Amino acid sequence: MSISNSVRYLAHNLYSSWHCLLIPRNVHLSRYLLHGEYEWQDPKTENEVVNITYIDKDGKRIPVRGKIGDNVLYLAHRFGVEMEGACEASLACTTCHVYVLGDYGNKLPPSEEKEDDLLDMAPFLKENSRLGCQIVLTKELEGLELQLPQATRNFYVDGHKPKPH
Ligand code: FES
Repeated sequence: MSISNSVRYLAHNLYSSWHCLLIPRNVHLSRYLLHGEYEWQDPKTENEVVNITYIDKDGKRIPVRGKIGDNVLYLAHRFGVEMEGACEASLACTTCHVYVLGDYGNKLPPSEEKEDDLLDMAPFLKENSRLGCQIVLTKELEGLELQLPQATRNFYVDGHKPKPH
């Protein structure tokens, strides 16, 4: 095995071990958190539509017709918004870092300690920073605007870039 392959192998095993410690076996994550399949379904009725806007790092506005229950990380993947999400919503990176604009931050459930700990290490941290993978749309979030930071840095996940399913 070459040195670079050995390093990748070691990094992968370290991540896998750590990841297992983070998510105990008896914790059931919902389907959309694991795969993002739900976000690829269109709203079935107008009542469940939640319109939001992503603003990319160049200031380009990307309006998206989401729905109740959509995770904004996976919704971003569906619509080609560059929110990386390297750990695929397992709270092990900061590459889904977003700024929640306006007073929508008050409409979100408060962040948990693990999210806060990760955000403390995110580049370009602001008062309104959140991890996108922890934001799930509700009707109250109609009109939500999420701005992507200038850059994110991946401290934890070795080069993994999730692709839309
Ligand atoms: S995708 Fe890694 S913490 Fe959100």
